[in-house]
Amino acid sequence: MARRKKIYEGKAKILYEGPEPGTIVQYFKDDATAFNAQKKDVIEGKGVLNNRLSEFFMTGLNTIGVPTHFIRRLNMREQLVRNCEIVPLEIIVRNFSAGSMSTRLGIEEGTQLPRPIVEYCYKDDDLGDPLVTEEHIAAFGWASQQDMDDILSLALRVNDFLSGVMLAVGIRLVDFKIEIGRVYDGDFQRLIIADEISPDSCRLWDIETGQKLDKDVFRRDLGSLTDAYSEVARRLGVMPKNS
Ligand code: C5P
Repeated sequence: MARRKKIYEGKAKILYEGPEPGTIVQYFKDDATAFNAQKKDVIEGKGVLNNRLSEFFMTGLNTIGVPTHFIRRLNMREQLVRNCEIVPLEIIVRNFSAGSMSTRLGIEEGTQLPRPIVEYCYKDDDLGDPLVTEEHIAAFGWASQQDMDDILSLALRVNDFLSGVMLAVGIRLVDFKIEIGRVYDGDFQRLIIADEISPDSCRLWDIETGQKLDKDVFRRDLGSLTDAYSEVARRLGVMPKNS
């Protein structure tokens, strides 16, 4: 097979030029990193699980009319996605306090929030993706006011969808992170969900036991990450067999 042009290599994924104009092949690696890559490991099978899980969530979102970059899965580790211009923000939605929010505000992990809280971080690994306000976003031109309105609405729709899907299989969606891309139809710009949605980018707790089924298992040395992700896949009926 002809070698493909690598466009970008990140901590958990590699992007290659796609077969058709405007497409990209997204390859899921087994590498796990935490604390801005200060902690690293290779977790066999993680890439396969995240490829399947992200396909599952993105397909579901497409079906309910929330546009995403996902086109189709190509094989165990790769999916074809729409090329887009990534908005330099990480959008975090929280239903329960955990992680950096609990640390920052001194709120006990697991405390239910009065309503979903949306936070924005500036995407910059060298700076450790700092939390920013809409003032920073507007002043530095990272997104327009119209974009911010659309991003908020997309983030809350993703939250409703994911919370419901997870609740149905006995899992609490504590929080998650999404990234947004811009695509252009002529002069007309649309925003779509990009990157991935997987247990790498969500906090997922078993409703009965509180067991963590997400990347905190790796961050906090709580056991086997593949077992945790496989459990999520099993409950959702997303089993990574042979393709
Ligand atoms: O670390 P923090 O508590 O801010 O993370 C909130 C949510 O966003 C978690 O689900 C975490 O996995 C996700 N996240 C991410 N990528 C980052 C930062 C956070 O997927 N760079």
